[in-house]
Amino acid sequence: MSVTVRVPAKVNVQLAVGAARPDGFHDLANVFLAVGLYDEVTVTAADELRITCEGPDADQVPLDHTNLAARAAQKLAARHGLAPDVHLHITKDIPVAGGMAGGSADAAGALLACDALWDTNTSRAELLDICAELGSDVPFSLVGGAALGTGRGEQLRPLEVGGTFHWVFAVADGGLSTPAVYAEFDRLTEGVEVPEPLASQPLLDALAKGDSTALAAALSNDLQPAALSLRPSLAGTLAAGTAAGALAALVSGSGPTTAFLTRDAPSATKVAEALLASGTCRTARLAASPAPGATVL
Ligand code: C5P
Repeated sequence: MSVTVRVPAKVNVQLAVGAARPDGFHDLANVFLAVGLYDEVTVTAADELRITCEGPDADQVPLDHTNLAARAAQKLAARHGLAPDVHLHITKDIPVAGGMAGGSADAAGALLACDALWDTNTSRAELLDICAELGSDVPFSLVGGAALGTGRGEQLRPLEVGGTFHWVFAVADGGLSTPAVYAEFDRLTEGVEVPEPLASQPLLDALAKGDSTALAAALSNDLQPAALSLRPSLAGTLAAGTAAGALAALVSGSGPTTAFLTRDAPSATKVAEALLASGTCRTARLAASPAPGATVL
């Protein structure tokens, strides 16, 4: 028997970052929006824990027990006194190390899939606790939709979304390390008073109304200067998408994927074509939001 779970990618429509905390994490006001690019995680009973991965970037995915999906299976098994003997197969469509929570998606998917395979009937609250132990973005991968994440991003409040938003994602060559981007944020803000991170009310209103123009005006990412400092070429990608008619452009999370909000689906197609023609990205992907969270297929 096997179980397959589908899990969406995310874009941060607002990422307000506070000063570094004593534990090294940063308090956030993190407005997550799930987008319709998905990984699938299939779990099958096996003699021992092993991982395989398929997809265009599969060679960049670690296949040892450092993979967040493997750690998810191990954590759930440990809670129930089980051996984590499963074959985890990841069908990867979310850019790897791209700032779109692909690793977090695989962890949330593995957790939900193992819970179904092992019949462990874990409560939603306990699943969310395990997700938070695995990583700051993992709880959101489980719930999907839209949510405000506070604390280090793991404390979620669901948000209303009143319409469909059309995005283009420009995938860069190679990933960026999230800790490295936060470290660069710390370096760039050294000696500066970093304000307490607060969610933007105009942004929440734009989401609730489904108003793309208002959302475009309110998008913000405090990690963008750090990502651009580490990867200056992203400025060219942002400019190419804006010149092609995107309503707004920003770095997705810690990058290096860049996100372009567009008026509608035809406009998204035009922006994606222009981005591809510009030579400033490896590929361009279309996706609509919001998307549902981790779902057993
Ligand atoms: O929680 P996660 O494992 O995804 O975090 C990866 C790294 O990103 C952390 O080790 C930390 O360097 C940085 N981070 C942070 N503040 C957050 C979330 C992540 O500094 N709120």
